[in-house]
Amino acid sequence: MDILIKNVNIFNRGKSFVSDIHIRGQRIHKVGTELQVRHAHQEIDGTGKWLIPGIIDDQVHFREPGLTHKADIASESRAAIAGGTTSFMEMPNTKPPALTQELLQHKYDIASKNAYCNYSFFMGVSNENYDEVMKTDLENVCGIKIFMGSSTGNMLVDNPDVLERIFANTPSLIATHCEDETTIRQNTEHFMADYGDRLDAKFHPLIRNEDACFLSSSYAAGLAKKYNTRLHILHLTTRDELVLFDNTIPLSEQRITSEVCVHHLHFCADDYETLGNLIKCNPAIKDKMHREALWDALLDDRLDIIATDHAPHTYAEKSEPYIHAPSGLPLVQHSLYIMLNAVHSGKISMEKVVEKMCHAPAECFQLLERGYLDEGKYADLVLIDPDEEWTIGPENIYYKCGWSPLTGVKCKGRVLRTFVNGSEVYNAEGKFVQGGGMRLTFSAVR
Ligand code: DOR
Repeated sequence: MDILIKNVNIFNRGKSFVSDIHIRGQRIHKVGTELQVRHAHQEIDGTGKWLIPGIIDDQVHFREPGLTHKADIASESRAAIAGGTTSFMEMPNTKPPALTQELLQHKYDIASKNAYCNYSFFMGVSNENYDEVMKTDLENVCGIKIFMGSSTGNMLVDNPDVLERIFANTPSLIATHCEDETTIRQNTEHFMADYGDRLDAKFHPLIRNEDACFLSSSYAAGLAKKYNTRLHILHLTTRDELVLFDNTIPLSEQRITSEVCVHHLHFCADDYETLGNLIKCNPAIKDKMHREALWDALLDDRLDIIATDHAPHTYAEKSEPYIHAPSGLPLVQHSLYIMLNAVHSGKISMEKVVEKMCHAPAECFQLLERGYLDEGKYADLVLIDPDEEWTIGPENIYYKCGWSPLTGVKCKGRVLRTFVNGSEVYNAEGKFVQGGGMRLTFSAVR
């Protein structure tokens, strides 16, 4: 298949320029002006449109196997391509959790049939599965995930000896969820004693507070420094944690990297007042001061990657009283839209959005042949109308759970077409094509 997109505004490697782009088979064949392609199967006029590399979301929860009443690999990867995400890395807290190589492989097998885009799955860690973790295939698995704070699923790793051993010996990238369990427990007991049944989502950032985040993140960073481990700390939420990251060396050389999620950039603690459990998530959304600090760190490169921590639960589950309602927000369809709004309001440039959502995940994970609009790379691309205005609502939400914490948000900019490995898998007329995704591959040296 030959596809030619003409006169489109391409964002790549910190630059934007009007060009044509020729896709041949699964790859980008040529980028240049006035390209002529005889017998192109599809020619698209890109005048006035933007073209970016497909988004690589390094933190999603797609709930399969075992929790498929909330979501599954097909439903959520379908939502992903509608929002311009062409590759995802999925977390191990499924049911059963991915704690053996066999259980991990099962998820890859499902994705090879059902996914709408490219995929990788993290190996899970427990206090007991060291030997299984050490068998992880570096070139075909994005990394290992350690819950150093408890969240959905019972995957807390709190044995210091196990943590030392894994940080000391694993050659994989370690991705961590960092919140200190003792602090969370003490805060919960304290607020429960004072408020009992009146405890609601407004207390979430007070229970899962700044201290819980810093204690755990600094512990993880300390272990990584001690053993020179390749550590990636997920969903940072506080100003104080930002001192753990260095912006003076190139990303590809860093041993400790960082991720921020779109909900922590978009919402602030005041929003618990109106949205309650719908935005209950771990780590909690903190107050405005922290949100501004996250934005500053994103812009000056102490924060490396923007992701979603897409974590769907049913509306009924979210409607439980605060203490029982599960944590997590469905977001994978809407991360680009949050960032496009930020581009239009002047908070960040589109070049920077592309760096943080497309290039940086490829660099951090040493993902081969993706993340850039370069000749020879796989053709994962997103064509955007930068000016279309629309509103997020039930009629355009594709998550299996059917709701979004962003319902009612007005967006400027819309995904018109998404390409995965050179094939159009989504367009705004409602086309969805399943099965074109590939297993992501990585450099063995990370
Ligand atoms: O809020 C969250 N929900 N944070 C996590 O780390 C896990 C996620 C989930 O799986 O529901």
